[in-house]
Amino acid sequence: MNRQARIHAKATHQARLILRLLSGIAFMHACLVVAAPQLNSQAQSTMTREPHPPLDDKSCIECHDQIVSSEVLCMATKEQMCTLCHAVPAAGGFSRLTEASEQLCLKCHTEDKFKGSYVHGPVAVGACIACHDPHGGNASELIGVAGKQMCLTCHVEMDARLSNARFQHKAVAEGCTNCHAPHASEYPFELRAVTVEFCTECHEDILSEYQKSTVKHAPVIEESACLNCHDAHMAEDERLLLTDGIDVCLKCHDGTITVDQYELAHMGQLLSENPVHHGPIQEKECSGCHRPHGSSYFRLLTDDYPKEFYTSFDKLKYDLCFRCHDSSLVTEQRTTTLTGFRDDDRNLHFVHVNKTPKGRTCRLCHQAHASTLPKYIEGTVRFGSWDLPVGFNKTENGGNCSPGCHSTKKYELKAE
Ligand code: HEC
Ligand code: HEC
Ligand code: HEC
Ligand code: HEC
Ligand code: HEC
Ligand code: HEC
Ligand code: HEC
Ligand code: HEC
Ligand code: HEC
Ligand code: HEC
Ligand code: HEC
Ligand code: HEC
Repeated sequence: MNRQARIHAKATHQARLILRLLSGIAFMHACLVVAAPQLNSQAQSTMTREPHPPLDDKSCIECHDQIVSSEVLCMATKEQMCTLCHAVPAAGGFSRLTEASEQLCLKCHTEDKFKGSYVHGPVAVGACIACHDPHGGNASELIGVAGKQMCLTCHVEMDARLSNARFQHKAVAEGCTNCHAPHASEYPFELRAVTVEFCTECHEDILSEYQKSTVKHAPVIEESACLNCHDAHMAEDERLLLTDGIDVCLKCHDGTITVDQYELAHMGQLLSENPVHHGPIQEKECSGCHRPHGSSYFRLLTDDYPKEFYTSFDKLKYDLCFRCHDSSLVTEQRTTTLTGFRDDDRNLHFVHVNKTPKGRTCRLCHQAHASTLPKYIEGTVRFGSWDLPVGFNKTENGGNCSPGCHSTKKYELKAE
């Protein structure tokens, strides 16, 4: 609904309610003449109380000024039409409501918002006054306690979880009704809309990141969408992740997933079978290298990284690695300090990588995630349909390789 349509709907709605209010008055007057005091269950429950004093032609608020003292008043209370809801207290008798309290409010409030596939517990039983003060309140909408505090008076378990959590979602701090309808809705948990929709109402940037990405990550919009990885209310991690930055990914990547007929590595197995983990993985940060929502780089990477086995060298193609490592590792032909992969002062990273057209990409030798060998050197590398052995051996002052590419070669660090 646009703004204008909403204003119009509200005006129509008000007119309808006021009509009902007026017909209520007519109805009440008619009733008052004929209605003899009846002892209903409510009246019985007042038996232990003092009987109502005689009215002596006084108006209700002459004695009940408390009732009209709130900042925000219900229209009927403000207009002192107390008898729309209360039967006039008989002298020596009791005051009672004109309807059983669970029907009282619904007599006039028949709007659709109280109906839905999912109706909130107290609304379903007509306990409107569990949340609303029937007369008025110090917050808008006749609610005595403002914001989330009102919800937490009943949801004490959620209250405890929120106060024990390290981080609370700002949207929760601002108020539960940001996401939940207080009365009823068409979505589970009385949510206002489908998860992705209400999350991205505030987090438009995430949606546009996803939409603009050439490599999209399906879980962002599929199944429980955002809630595949985030908690809606609170977390131990400021980014509201359900678990740490690795387990949150392994929930799905502890198994094989196929993308465009390519079977993605079983990451859970890879990490458990290869104990030498790359720095960011030791820090439990898959997002050190991957954008979880979507990316314009191969495999959801945060920066550029070649997807080929060979490529003409260009430093910019390795932005991913050189965000954390010094690029002079591959740009200097001779060095005695920049890398351990050198034979004396001959930089073997330069030799392999810094070439045109057939520069080797890092994946020829390094696994990006984990390995059994030092420096995350690969045991074998996929070369077409063949698992090409790398045959790496680390030695005290260098190393040697017996790869499927050339005969065994060794390198030694002679000078420092
Ligand atoms: C002469 C003073 C006086 C007038 C006038 C008066 N009340 Fe009362 N009312 C009292 C007192 C005293 C009590 C008992 C203490 C309390 O609950 O505030 C009471 C209690 C009540 C209660 C709660 C207890 C019950 O019996 O359910 C209601 C509801 C109520 N009055 C409604 C009304 C309405 C409606 C009017 C106007 C038609 C009205 N009163 C006019 C003095 C008055
Ligand atoms: C929209 C319906 C409605 C209107 C209008 C209304 N009341 Fe009430 N009133 C209630 C309900 C519901 C209760 C709570 C009964 C209960 O707790 O069981 C209540 C309770 C009361 C009580 C006892 C509890 C308390 O809050 O002190 C008094 C006194 C009272 N009303 C007086 C008034 C007076 C005076 C007016 C008019 C100025 C008025 N009411 C208008 C619905 C209404
Ligand atoms: C769990 C607490 C709760 C219960 C129970 C509840 N409400 Fe509400 N109601 C609210 C809150 C909170 C708002 C504020 C509006 C919002 O945030 O959507 C509200 C708003 C309203 C509004 C006006 C604003 C709007 O949405 O147009 C009306 C009218 C209303 N409630 C009537 C009722 C009636 C009638 C019942 C019983 C059938 C009821 N409420 C039960 C919490 C509650
Ligand atoms: C006799 C008819 C009638 C009864 C009974 C009635 N209401 Fe209302 N209510 C109205 C009218 C009329 C309005 C004003 C409509 C508007 O401004 O949109 C209203 C407005 C409200 C609002 C919105 C106030 C706001 O800030 O926008 C709430 C909340 C509300 N009523 C709750 C209740 C609750 C709770 C009950 C039961 C205790 C109740 N009403 C019983 C007629 C009634
Ligand atoms: C008067 C007590 C009360 C208040 C106040 C209250 N609730 Fe509830 N709420 C309940 C009850 C009772 C249930 C049903 C519990 C159940 O089925 O386990 C419920 C259920 C829920 C559920 C669904 C839980 C589930 O597991 O299906 C949500 C979500 C919820 N409430 C949110 C809110 C929000 C948001 C507010 C504040 C606007 C609020 N509640 C205020 C009593 C309350
Ligand atoms: C950012 C949106 C958002 C806000 C704000 C929010 N919730 Fe929720 N809530 C959800 C979603 C989504 C679910 C359903 C999925 C789930 O279990 O987390 C949910 C589920 C619930 C449930 C049922 C499941 C459970 O964990 O017990 C309750 C109760 C609940 N919310 C209460 C609240 C209360 C109380 C507040 C305010 C303190 C609140 N919510 C604020 C989005 C929100
Ligand atoms: C009413 C607006 C609103 C809604 C709806 C909302 N959020 Fe938020 N969210 C915020 C605000 C405000 C922040 C705090 C942002 C900041 O501090 O930069 C935040 C923070 C976050 C953060 C943490 C960001 C960080 O850098 O620590 C995540 C993750 C998040 N929201 C996810 C969600 C998810 C998932 C949903 C849907 C269940 C959702 N949000 C719904 C307003 C909202
Ligand atoms: C596959 C898991 C996953 C899904 C699904 C997911 N996120 Fe995230 N989200 C993350 C991770 C991991 C981070 C932390 C990124 C970082 O540290 O750079 C994050 C960060 C965020 C942030 C903080 C700001 C930012 O850009 O880093 C917000 C806000 C956010 N997510 C909202 C959402 C919303 C909204 C959805 C649903 C539309 C969603 N997320 C879906 C994993 C996910
Ligand atoms: C809810 C399940 C789920 C979670 C959680 C999840 N993923 Fe995924 N991931 C998938 C699915 C399904 C695909 C294949 C479809 C696609 O590419 O979107 C995929 C694909 C990928 C791809 C390959 C993308 C491509 O198209 O080449 C990478 C990389 C990836 N995920 C990393 C992560 C990271 C990092 C995390 C944790 C932040 C994570 N995933 C969490 C389900 C998940
Ligand atoms: C240091 C950077 C880095 C970190 C940290 C990282 N990745 Fe990767 N990831 C990569 C690179 C680079 C590729 C592409 C590998 C290739 O094709 O050679 C990749 C590829 C993937 C793939 C696709 C594998 C395939 O079979 O092609 C998945 C799935 C994946 N990563 C998930 C994860 C998960 C889960 C984590 C956290 C446990 C993680 N990554 C942490 C850099 C990283
Ligand atoms: C987010 C930062 C980050 C990115 C991006 C990154 N690395 Fe690393 N890398 C590290 C950290 C931190 C260490 C140190 C780990 C340790 O000390 O155990 C490391 C260590 C290494 C080592 C072993 C160094 C040693 O001395 O043991 C190699 C090899 C390596 N990275 C290769 C790569 C390659 C190839 C890429 C690009 C695909 C890359 N890294 C991207 C952070 C990163
Ligand atoms: C031909 C195989 C090969 C290629 C291709 C390769 N490396 Fe290495 N790299 C090694 C070997 C072997 C070592 C271990 C040197 C030692 O310590 O003995 C190493 C070590 C490293 C180290 C640890 C610090 C150092 O230099 O000693 C980093 C960081 C690193 N490589 C990054 C990269 C990056 C980034 C790429 C791609 C741009 C890359 N490597 C390409 C074989 C290779």
